[in-house]
Amino acid sequence: MASRDQFRSRIGFILAAAGSAIGLGNIWRFPYMTGESGGGAFVLMYLLIVMVVGVSLLLVEFSIGRHGKANAVDSYAKIHKGFAWIGYLGVFTSFLLISYYSVVGGWTIYYTLKSATGTLTSLPADQIGNFFGGFISQPVLPLFYHLLFIFLTAWIVAKGISGGIEKYTKALMPLLFIMLLILLVRALTLPGAMKGVAWYLKPDFSKLTGSTVVAACGQVFFSLSLGLSGMVTYASYLSKDDNLISSSFVVAMTDTLIAIIAGFVIFPTIFAFGGDPSGGPGLVFISLPQIFTKMPMGAFFAFIFFLLLVIAALTSSISIMEVCITFFVEKVKWSRLKASVFYGTVCFLLGIPVSLSFGMWGDVKILGKGIFDLFDYFCSNISLPLSGLACAILVGWFWGKEKALAEVTNDGRIQSNVAGLWFFTVKYVIPIVVGIIFLQAIGVLQV
Ligand code: TRP
Repeated sequence: MASRDQFRSRIGFILAAAGSAIGLGNIWRFPYMTGESGGGAFVLMYLLIVMVVGVSLLLVEFSIGRHGKANAVDSYAKIHKGFAWIGYLGVFTSFLLISYYSVVGGWTIYYTLKSATGTLTSLPADQIGNFFGGFISQPVLPLFYHLLFIFLTAWIVAKGISGGIEKYTKALMPLLFIMLLILLVRALTLPGAMKGVAWYLKPDFSKLTGSTVVAACGQVFFSLSLGLSGMVTYASYLSKDDNLISSSFVVAMTDTLIAIIAGFVIFPTIFAFGGDPSGGPGLVFISLPQIFTKMPMGAFFAFIFFLLLVIAALTSSISIMEVCITFFVEKVKWSRLKASVFYGTVCFLLGIPVSLSFGMWGDVKILGKGIFDLFDYFCSNISLPLSGLACAILVGWFWGKEKALAEVTNDGRIQSNVAGLWFFTVKYVIPIVVGIIFLQAIGVLQV
């Protein structure tokens, strides 16, 4: 086999991993999940799960990937043959996840264009909800943008790791952060903003049910890109000198910070304009433009912001896709290009029912859920946690302490006083915590 591609620099890898983590999950999914699940109590649960489960599983995926130096299936098999299925599950889930991720990615492209022409911000703030609803319920137009989003993803991935992914992520992520800070200032100074802040921060524990915990756990997996072998795949392109422990902290912290800030932008705005925090997937597509209409040069800022959101979404979607591409290239012996075209086509087709479920197929229910919700529930609350659970068991009980610690400390060259705690968490805490949440998610346990 030809020598494998590699990340060229340490910062390149961290940014690519952070780029994978930071995406629609932070700015679109986190706020509406928080909104649907009652605010502060959800946020608290989320933070708790990030600290106990999220950071540790990030390090688990990094270590499995770098040790394996191969596609996900082979990386798991290298530690124990019986766990290769986690890789196959990741490949399968990747198709489903990208199919709705790119529908929403398409919405962000549409918004970028409508900001550039000034259409979006010339609307009265109370008309933006109708504008959004009118757009996503159309049968054809959103599909066009969905296709465009898939195409961009496939195009970057086809170019390979260092020439594509690494290059595109490096420059643009810091810019997104700065834009978010500008919006933060505007949102917090809107009249009535503090009601939103109070709603966001004040935990109402009566809202904390089993399904809130399932949702918070699913959000952690989704936001940190866990449970799909995405981080395994990225880390397989990593050199032996990188510090996996600090990388996992940096990635988890930045990702969480961005989600929390997004909440501080969205909720004050929703309360300032009398919106409903439990408005579901359309939440940010309505509240964000409302802020822009209240800003000098709103159209300009809206354009920059949605453009950056498109880019953040792309640096995530390429990581979702890369799981499959590395798999097809190494296991099925396809070229990157062929794999990308195949993947893009299947995902486009899968996305059609998802997109229609926001319009004319809105009444179609499978297992009591709409198509979009069903896809998302299966991916975020079932497949990702199941795979995370299996990864923890693989590392904790089959790989064993000595080998796992050798990998994360680069054979003892990195001194770390958290590595032991990490291993304990992986072996005992995660299987119990994620195991219980998983049973709740599939309906075996009902709290
Ligand atoms: N974390 C990304 C986001 O927040 C989405 C994503 C990328 C993802 N790779 C993943 C989600 C792997 C689950 C698994 O937008």
